[in-house]
Amino acid sequence: MSETAGWAVVLHGGCKPIKASEAAANRDGCRQALAQAVAVLRGGGCATEAVEAAVRALEADPTFNAGRGSVPNAEGEIEVDAALMDGETLALGGVCAAPGLLHPISVARAMLPEDATLLAGEGALRFAAERGLAEQVTPGEGPQGQGCDTVGCVALDSSGRISAGTSTGGLGGAAPGRVGDSPLPGCGVYADSRVGGVSASGVGESISRTLLGARVVMALEEGATPHAAVERALARLQRVGGDAGLICLDAAGRLGWAHSGDQFAVAWASSTEPDLHVELLNLELAADD
Ligand code: GLY
Repeated sequence: MSETAGWAVVLHGGCKPIKASEAAANRDGCRQALAQAVAVLRGGGCATEAVEAAVRALEADPTFNAGRGSVPNAEGEIEVDAALMDGETLALGGVCAAPGLLHPISVARAMLPEDATLLAGEGALRFAAERGLAEQVTPGEGPQGQGCDTVGCVALDSSGRISAGTSTGGLGGAAPGRVGDSPLPGCGVYADSRVGGVSASGVGESISRTLLGARVVMALEEGATPHAAVERALARLQRVGGDAGLICLDAAGRLGWAHSGDQFAVAWASSTEPDLHVELLNLELAADD
């Protein structure tokens, strides 16, 4: 573990178009999720617990494309992806194309002790049911449209543990079984307590093809600041197109975020700056229809 007695947390509510009329709901949802994570970290809880608490709050809020706000696929069904990584042990749990789960992040956490790192479809649902975690969402509660945005959180606890989690309701109208970047380590999520952690949002195929999560962590390992690490990774997207947003923190608790395209909802706090900070990046560019 690193020699830190401080804590830090950063979360996102997705890289997506946010109309001015949607700003308050996005701000409030991010603030409430951040408050959950901060309560865990201030109480001496671990980073994994903090990340799960924040992502569960975002999954419960239909403002965001995850959990309750998931968008239907081409057959009108909800399929969700999520992953959670414990950067201390490098344990990883994830579910993908999992039918209708309200809180896939909790299923991902329940998988951390398992050998398998990723369960798909009906297998994920069966595992969730065995753990009492198969609560379902109702199609149509979430935002209408294409989706592709995601929620995520990265936390450093006062013992120096870093965890990262990402959860998504996927891409609206996508082929059944389509899986984006969110549950894939090194794409939409990664954590290593010795280095840092990252969570992504945006076009999953582009993020996966350019390994954005891995690029952020490798840049941190090479000594880049969190801000430089996310900017450097994002620059790779130009090769394949598509937009993305990235949040990260390093082992010293320094934070970074960057995005391309529309708006990006980000919130953060730390033991040195414990106020709840929420930013809707590029909001001034948003216009109501
Ligand atoms: N970034 C979420 C997805 O593409 O599924």
